[in-house]
Amino acid sequence: MSEADRKTQIWGTPLQKGVQRLLLLGAGELGKEVAIEAMRFGLEVIAADYYSNAPAMQVAHRAHVIDMLSDAKLRFLVDLEKPDLIVPEIEAIATETLVELEKEGWRVIPTARATNLTMNREGIRRLAAEELSLRTSPYRFADTEEEYRNAIAQLGLPCVVKPVMSSSGKGQSIIRTEDEIAPAWEYAQTGGRTQKQRVIVEGFVEFDTEITLLTVRSIEGTSFCPAIGHIQVSGDYRESWQPCILNPDTLLQCQEIAHKITEALGGWGIFGVELFIAGDPNGKQTVYFSEVSPRPHDTGMVTMISQNMSEFELHVRAITGLPIGNIELIKTGASAVILADETGDNPHFTGINEALKVPTSKLRLFGKPTTRKNRRMGVALALGETVEEARQRAKECAYKVKVLPSANL
Ligand SMILES: Nc1ncnc2c1ncn2[C@@H]1O[C@H](COP(=O)(O)OP(=O)(O)OP(=O)(O)O)[C@@H](O)[C@H]1O
Ligand SMILES: [Mg+2]
Repeated sequence: MSEADRKTQIWGTPLQKGVQRLLLLGAGELGKEVAIEAMRFGLEVIAADYYSNAPAMQVAHRAHVIDMLSDAKLRFLVDLEKPDLIVPEIEAIATETLVELEKEGWRVIPTARATNLTMNREGIRRLAAEELSLRTSPYRFADTEEEYRNAIAQLGLPCVVKPVMSSSGKGQSIIRTEDEIAPAWEYAQTGGRTQKQRVIVEGFVEFDTEITLLTVRSIEGTSFCPAIGHIQVSGDYRESWQPCILNPDTLLQCQEIAHKITEALGGWGIFGVELFIAGDPNGKQTVYFSEVSPRPHDTGMVTMISQNMSEFELHVRAITGLPIGNIELIKTGASAVILADETGDNPHFTGINEALKVPTSKLRLFGKPTTRKNRRMGVALALGETVEEARQRAKECAYKVKVLPSANL
């Protein structure tokens, strides 16, 4: 490795020997909460990401700025820090390297195979649909525009196109009419994690509800959190609420799917299982598996207010081999995201005083050092007697907070 490769930005000093060391790969808002919960249990936390001053770095014992898609750099980091637990927070990691590291004896959460399969939509889709026979949307993969057009011809409109390696809706389009086919291909080729990559074309599922079923695999076996309902805009989450009441048969179907997919991925930790539910809630409903994150889920941030243990605490307990006990809903809760409007540096927030006047509201402002349009900068949380009341409060609280770049100070 060259001298330049060795250079990572490091601060802080190691804690005393004997303390369990957790290396977070990805230091965003979800990692920040994992870091806080891990520190509550006395762990030493090291946060890594490709940019400095990322949210989890601000609360970790130490931080590294490194390209986690580089095999050499990831290895260098693991050799340097010798973590007891390698905890991926994002998909964009050299997961083949994690597979190798696991073989060499390092512990990857939940398993290296789980991170490898879920970093690419093809891996997880083939596992779910072709090996486990879970119901999914119909799908085809395509490498060229011709294959893509053939896929659409087979699946029909409307359909959804996504780069196989992307998240938060990047490069993703819903195609409803013929004239949207060409621009959707262009966007998929440029909007994903890498340029010109394979795409998945999925038949559009006319679902009535979409949920995240947080599923915990721990020393005690498999546990489920109450279902979380959510709304996505342009493939990115805007609002979530818990509980999302389902009829008992539907809930059972959801839990069976979640059990199967998480069992196939293995290991300990929390998983966000994304499911689409179609059909009359008073009749027999159809549940589709969409995708799964082998880590805390963004829509699960609501659990910071609604549950006795947040998804982050559950993750830390599970991965360190601690008991989970009963997961309880304390009260109906909701979350609403706070997005930036434009690109800028050193953002600050206004309207916080007014926002916190909304009854039961709480804010989590992530501390991201830069903004871009629609980047998630914070989340508002609120409780209510009903889902409607909780959602209304969370949205009102989020709406009052404005993100301003420093240039506008
Ligand atoms: N086949 C489909 N039919 C209908 N809606 C879909 C389909 N695929 C995706 N969507 C909608 O787009 C959203 C985002 O899709 P998906 O979860 O696959 O993308 P993502 O980029 O991985 O998102 P994230 O990383 O935020 O979970 C879904 O939650 C759903 O609302
Ligand atoms: Mg998703």
